Amino acid sequence: MCGIVGYVGDRQALDVVLEGLARLEYRGYDSAGIALVTGDPRATGLTTEKRAGKLAVLAGVLAEQAPPPSTTGIGHTRWATHGAPNDRNAHPHLDCTGRIAVIHNGIIENFSGLRAELQERGHVLVSETDTEVVAHLLEEVLVADGTGTWVDLAESVRRVARRLKGAFTLVVVDADQPDVVVGARRSSPLVVGRGDGENFLASDVTAFIAHTRRAIELGQDQVVELRRDRVQITSFDGSAAVVTEYEVDWDVAAAEKAGYEHFMLKEIAEQPRAVADTLIGRIDARGGLVLDEMRLSDADLREVDKILIVACGTAYHAGLIAKYAIEHWTRIPCEVEIASEFRYRDPILDRQTLVIAISQSGETMDTLMAVRHAREQHAQVLAICNTNGSTIPRESDAVLYTHAGPEIGVAATKTFLTQVVAVYLVALYLAQVRGTKYADEVREVIAELAVLPEKVEKVLETMEPVRELARSLVDARTVLFLGRHVGYPVALEGALKLKELAYMHAEGFPAGELKHGPIALIEEGMPVVVTVPSPRGRGVLHDKMISNIAEVRARGARTIVLAEEGDESVVDLADVLVRVPPTPTLLAPVVTTVPLQVLAYELAVARGFDVDQPRNLAKSVTVE
Ligand code: G6P
Repeated sequence: MCGIVGYVGDRQALDVVLEGLARLEYRGYDSAGIALVTGDPRATGLTTEKRAGKLAVLAGVLAEQAPPPSTTGIGHTRWATHGAPNDRNAHPHLDCTGRIAVIHNGIIENFSGLRAELQERGHVLVSETDTEVVAHLLEEVLVADGTGTWVDLAESVRRVARRLKGAFTLVVVDADQPDVVVGARRSSPLVVGRGDGENFLASDVTAFIAHTRRAIELGQDQVVELRRDRVQITSFDGSAAVVTEYEVDWDVAAAEKAGYEHFMLKEIAEQPRAVADTLIGRIDARGGLVLDEMRLSDADLREVDKILIVACGTAYHAGLIAKYAIEHWTRIPCEVEIASEFRYRDPILDRQTLVIAISQSGETMDTLMAVRHAREQHAQVLAICNTNGSTIPRESDAVLYTHAGPEIGVAATKTFLTQVVAVYLVALYLAQVRGTKYADEVREVIAELAVLPEKVEKVLETMEPVRELARSLVDARTVLFLGRHVGYPVALEGALKLKELAYMHAEGFPAGELKHGPIALIEEGMPVVVTVPSPRGRGVLHDKMISNIAEVRARGARTIVLAEEGDESVVDLADVLVRVPPTPTLLAPVVTTVPLQVLAYELAVARGFDVDQPRNLAKSVTVE
């Protein structure tokens, strides 16, 4: 949510900043802006430009009217919270003198009080944003301090940061202190990229991965002073911070489209690899599980008497699938909760509770707040995350990283499949440690996990009927998705994908629940997508589903049935039949979700929508 870039070096800052913003646009894309320290007298040494709309609008303006050369700059791509997405509310925001420029990701919760104070002292605030107060507070330290003492930019940012409440990443430049960019971080991401004679700041490493793979994640309540040849990190109180540099293990190619029309299409295609990579190194020579990154001791895991999963959006659906695997394999009671609801219902947690936080980005504020609440209550927290060094894993007791690589398309695809695989690994590990499954049983499941990449590949090779189906659904008003058992979260995920990408009304239901109300929605020709459980698994589940298909069909539904190869019982009930490779019941979501992703993608394209950047959304939602 909101992408931030900063640069100091020898290159043209404008090019670096725009290139970085292009890579971060998935974080928000309702407006964009830049500030360059140029020494241009027309603009008090600072050149700023900002525009509502996607980055291309801003880039167009800058191409027509090139700003003066500059090697120090910042840039922002916005997902509006306070104030409509117009030119005025776009970042950067300036102080009264026009000397200081601020960009921000997050929400400054005490902004209205600060705003009133500033106005009382004569400041003129021109936007409706919470961010603008920061520029004016900095002005009071840097320009109008009144004491005559010179304050450097980093110190002024520290002083102001201490007055702010809420979540914020701030990045600031001052025309009177060229060659320095200062950033501050509380509960929103900020990463430093270390170059040679140049340094970068960004919301995530994709913004500078083309230039350097050396990165430092800023910690909570830290300020960074970025110069050409020096990076200095302190905490808000000015004390030096302990800094750990790491090497990003993927390169720029992973963050590009590689010939695909959309990132989402590329990311769907990458799923076999992503699943395989998430399994790599986790299985030892004897077929047992190795989870090195889990910093919870086996003794702790044996003590766990309840598991609570917290997550948002697609990650929540991965959590719902996890519940079936965890309870079945470990016999530990497991609840799944939407992270934004979690702490407000006062959940019962103690040292024996294992909280699993699932988050692709590791920055989702609702999930982060749930993690903090859980830790305050002394629960142990395990994060499942795709982003190295992000906030949620850092604030958790343990982490299991998914290895999906960067996901740029706003709608989660490959990260979802890898989250599901990761929860299977956790469930199996628990079962192994607690002895609820014999070693040979664990090995059997692992063998099934190991062939999932091939099965996903096979599904991807046979998607033509789904593409055809999508074309026939372009004008559908509503699409229903039905599932049972693990097929129910798959139905929810199918419906979510359709809503967020194709802007169509879609609902996912447990198939058995349909007759208790939603069946009234069915009318002649309404598309109903049904995921059929394996007939080789729990037979009763399969048979009940067959009856449910018959029920909706009898009421005029057009049935789109996803069923295992060889399941002949569905043939007469399906208007459209999509085949998936036979897969054990609990693992089936890894294959059955894929056609639903393809369906949503194709429908969104057919309806002419922006698949990678759907309206009103952002990939990483760093506000509550
Ligand atoms: C946003 C995205 C969703 C995502 C959810 C959770 O709402 O649009 O695609 O599932 O956040 O994100 P996380 O990074 O925590 O998995």
